[in-house]
Amino acid sequence: MHHYCQALGIQPWELRKKQTATVESSDWEMLRQAVAQCTACSLHQTRTQTVFGVGNREASLMLIGEAPGFHEDQQGEPFVGRAGQLLTAMLKAMGFERKEVYIANILKCRPPNNRDPQPIEVQTCTPFLEQQIKLVSPKLLVAVGRIAAHYLLKTKSSLESVRNKVHQYGEDNTPLIVTYHPAYLLRNPVDKKKAFLDLQFVRRTLERD
Ligand code: URA
Repeated sequence: MHHYCQALGIQPWELRKKQTATVESSDWEMLRQAVAQCTACSLHQTRTQTVFGVGNREASLMLIGEAPGFHEDQQGEPFVGRAGQLLTAMLKAMGFERKEVYIANILKCRPPNNRDPQPIEVQTCTPFLEQQIKLVSPKLLVAVGRIAAHYLLKTKSSLESVRNKVHQYGEDNTPLIVTYHPAYLLRNPVDKKKAFLDLQFVRRTLERD
C-alpha cells in the first residue's frame, strides 16, 4: 500500500477521492502546490520535477498535450524540447506568441522512457488538468495529439477522424479542436500541411466566437 495512505490509515482510492475534492476547490497557488507535492501514482518516483503548465492564465486559447518528456522533466515547463519548438512555431503560424496562450499536459510527470500514459495515471492526474481548465476558462481548447484527444473526448477514434471538427468538452461544453502532435509531425512531415489547415481552423473558430 502507498506509504502515505498507510500513515493516514486509508485506502489508496480514498486518498484519490480526498485529493479530487481538494483539487476541485483549489486556486492557482493551491493547485500548483498540490501538483508539486503529488505522490498519487508511481510516476513521482522517477520524475525530476512536476511539470505544471505555463502561460497566460486568462488565455482564450488553451493547448493540452500528453505528458512531459526528457527536457520538460528537466526544466519543469511543458513543450520545451524539439516538439515544443515546433509547437511554438505552430502557435506563431496562428498569430499567437507562446506567452499569450496557456499550455498544459494531461500528465504532470514524465513517464519513464516517454512511454504512453497508463489509464490509472491519467485517471489519477486529470483532476489537476480539469481544475486548470476551470481556472483558465478558455474560449477554445486544442488537444495536441492522439493521446490527449482520446482522453479528452473519451474516444479511441483515429486522429484523422476527429480533426477538422469542433467538439465539446466538459460540463461547460467548451469548444475543442484536435490537431497533430508536433512530435508526430517531426516524424511525419507530410502531415504538416493538414496541421497547418487545423491551425487556420482554430484561428477561424476563435474569431467566429
Ligand atoms: N509532448 C507533450 O505532449 N508534452 C510536452 O510537454 C512535451 C512533449
